Amino acid sequence: MSNDGVNAGRRRFLVAATSVVGAAGAVGAAVPFVGSWFPSAKAKAAGAPVKVNVSKVEPGQQMIAEWRGQPVFIVRRTEEILGNLDKIHDRVADPESKASVQPTYVDPVTRSIKPEVLLLIGICTHLGCSPTFRPEVAPADLGPEWVGGYFCPCHGSRYDMAGRVYKSQPAPLNLPVPPHSYETDEIIVVGVDQEKA
Ligand code: FES
Repeated sequence: MSNDGVNAGRRRFLVAATSVVGAAGAVGAAVPFVGSWFPSAKAKAAGAPVKVNVSKVEPGQQMIAEWRGQPVFIVRRTEEILGNLDKIHDRVADPESKASVQPTYVDPVTRSIKPEVLLLIGICTHLGCSPTFRPEVAPADLGPEWVGGYFCPCHGSRYDMAGRVYKSQPAPLNLPVPPHSYETDEIIVVGVDQEKA
């Protein structure tokens, strides 16, 4: 098990983020101020885990929560939706999320702890727009091959119902899966890893 239950892609991001904080800290050290070492209550709240009750999300539908100022898409997938994930395995760029960001404790293909409940950070991996939930099969604007997923309105990237990006899209990677865990069957804690809950 890797550190913090995250994969290599996540670690790379954490290393990059830590470097930025380190650089800012070095500048701040020129003017010592003890209070600045402690995060404010507002900063703590912004990074705090969020509990979400998913009991009202109907099969095939999505709800949107917020965690760390980011939208978190939560979808209850049907057997049919899950079956389609295998069918389009060859059409997505990173089918088992080897290069994409997701916790190590989620299934590599369904990208979830429970197959039927999917959580994604709703920010396109191209330039950060929020993709639109398009669960319909073969709608006129997305074509006969479309089996449901996410469509980014900014530059047209397409993702499937596991947040896996199709091949040859502007977006390079799958939508990230946030760290999360189950407090009960229907209460999910976003921001707390499953094995640490
Ligand atoms: S931001 Fe989504 S395709 Fe460019």
